[in-house]
Amino acid sequence: LLQARPPKPDAWWRAEQARLIDIGTQHGPSYVYHLPTVRERAAQLNAIKAFDARYYAMKANSNPAILKTLAQAGFGFECVSLDEIEHLQTHLPDLSPTRILFTPSFAPRSEYERALALGATVTVDNVEVLERWPAVFKERSLWLRIDLGHGDGHHEKVVTGGAASKFGLDITRLGAFVRAARALNIRVTGLHAHLGSGIESPTHWAQVYSELIGIAEQIGSVEWIDMGGGLPIPYTPDAEPFDLAGFAEAIAGIKDSFPRYKLACEPGRFLVAEAGVLLTRVTQVVHKSGVARVGLDAGMNALIRPSLYDAWHGIHNLSKPAGSALAEFDVVGPICESGDVLGNDRELPISTSENDVILIADAGAYGMTMASRYNMRALPHEEIIE
Ligand code: LLP
Repeated sequence: LLQARPPKPDAWWRAEQARLIDIGTQHGPSYVYHLPTVRERAAQLNAIKAFDARYYAMKANSNPAILKTLAQAGFGFECVSLDEIEHLQTHLPDLSPTRILFTPSFAPRSEYERALALGATVTVDNVEVLERWPAVFKERSLWLRIDLGHGDGHHEKVVTGGAASKFGLDITRLGAFVRAARALNIRVTGLHAHLGSGIESPTHWAQVYSELIGIAEQIGSVEWIDMGGGLPIPYTPDAEPFDLAGFAEAIAGIKDSFPRYKLACEPGRFLVAEAGVLLTRVTQVVHKSGVARVGLDAGMNALIRPSLYDAWHGIHNLSKPAGSALAEFDVVGPICESGDVLGNDRELPISTSENDVILIADAGAYGMTMASRYNMRALPHEEIIE
């Protein structure tokens, strides 16, 4: 028998088990978000004084209560579509458009027009967009997203820098971009890079920051440096928490040397991943060809990260007492795909059975926002813990 070893013994949900069992039992597949954890993460970033603006990458989680919490904490919002901007306007009607940063990828002309008309800060990341739609951009102040030629991240699919990536201006085309901008009386007031997601190396951002400053010095009109998001969280029990103090110290050194540039960041995952859990119930436990499988009523339709990136999320049976004897199971969902797996070789109580409520940990980022109605299953319910 395997020994029970509690990963993340201080996770907020350990004190909320009875309530979570109720929610999972009443509503079926449910995301539950713990706002105190969001506030705590926001406060950690607010304590880093080198930042002059902090944008929340709302693609990570667009639940209105989370948006309100982060707006109250002073955050702006990084949006990637006009729909995200409109969602903000619906749920935060008093939010000043100056707190919106629009960082689209291959967006249609109309979305740039609309974001500029609203007064949001707009990022472009290629020369073609200026050549093709000069009337949209002429005489504007814009931020420029740059591909610094390298990227990083927890999986190849989330690396957004380097030659293979669709994002950012190829640095060798900087001269052409600056010429095209000058011809249209465009002021490049910000430089932006976001080179990937779930980046473990704490020196990554100081590197990006100094490379962008080097480019800003050549351009002249730049006021803002945006070092992107990508801060990791520890998903696995043996992962170290992110060295936020080391991160802050490295960027503070650069800020002291170049105080005339204002500094922005745009994290998503760091703020919300640990604040969210997915609750789901056991449907069937099946033994086949030497493999024991626990089936759940939520799978890749509710949380696609394990299927898409081989991402690891803690899986816990809330319905069986702590200290139950454990066995190894593959944990699968109800979707008609072999890739519909939430975790392989997971330790769960041997007694795991139908209707037990299972908690999938650290699912607050890129969970609900990436959920689908595949197989016509309903989207998960959402619940807030204030
Ligand atoms: N800024 C930009 C321009 C981005 O594209 C992203 C994320 C962020 C900021 C926030 O990155 P974060 O701090 O959350 O790492 N679905 C993947 C992650 C994709 C990230 C896409 N862009 C996942 O579940 O791991």
